[in-house]
Amino acid sequence: MLLPIPEVLTSEQVAEARRILEQAEWVDGRVTAGHQSARTKDNMQLPENHPAAGQLGETILTALGQNPLFVSAALPARVFPPLFNRYQGGQSFGTHVDNAIRQVSGTGHRIRTDLSATLFFSRPDEYDGGELIVEDTYGVHHVKLPAGHMILYPSTSLHHVTPVTRGSRLSSFFWIQSMVRDDGQRTLLFDLDTAIQRINPAQPGDAAVVQLTGVYHNLLRRWAEV
Ligand code: NI
Repeated sequence: MLLPIPEVLTSEQVAEARRILEQAEWVDGRVTAGHQSARTKDNMQLPENHPAAGQLGETILTALGQNPLFVSAALPARVFPPLFNRYQGGQSFGTHVDNAIRQVSGTGHRIRTDLSATLFFSRPDEYDGGELIVEDTYGVHHVKLPAGHMILYPSTSLHHVTPVTRGSRLSSFFWIQSMVRDDGQRTLLFDLDTAIQRINPAQPGDAAVVQLTGVYHNLLRRWAEV
């Protein structure tokens, strides 16, 4: 499932994040790339232990924890501390698949990357190119979202970022280990939850809604690892 999550951050939060990111010192993005992706990755990144990364990461994680669409779609077990990157002057990231397992810097913690996320800080009219292209069995998807919006997609997909030929593209990127590892099962749960939410206000206390809610939780109980 490829899902845009609108308005993860408010315009004030985006402006504050940009102010902080524009003052930060950036390093070559290859520092966190795996063996294969290091060959095709050409961008700048905030060092993982940079205080700004920690501060902005907290803002993002707090916002996501309160975002019902994100929680329903991702069923998050663990979220990797958000990283930050910048593309400009023709920089791009060639086709790759994200590493399956990521170590959280400075800790013994590892997460399995079930879902990948990109949260946009730059407005689409501020830069040319810089599209995130995600390839899956349903075809090729072009993603370029408003500032403060986020895209969620399966980490199993091949993806790349096209060259930024004008302006600058600032974003945050990170991974989610889901309680439900399988994308197909997670998508079914999301569809069921969405449908229940849609009928619920119209049918308060309806026995069928209660039964469907039971089905949702019993599927989650069957498939979730916590
Ligand atoms: Ni990637």
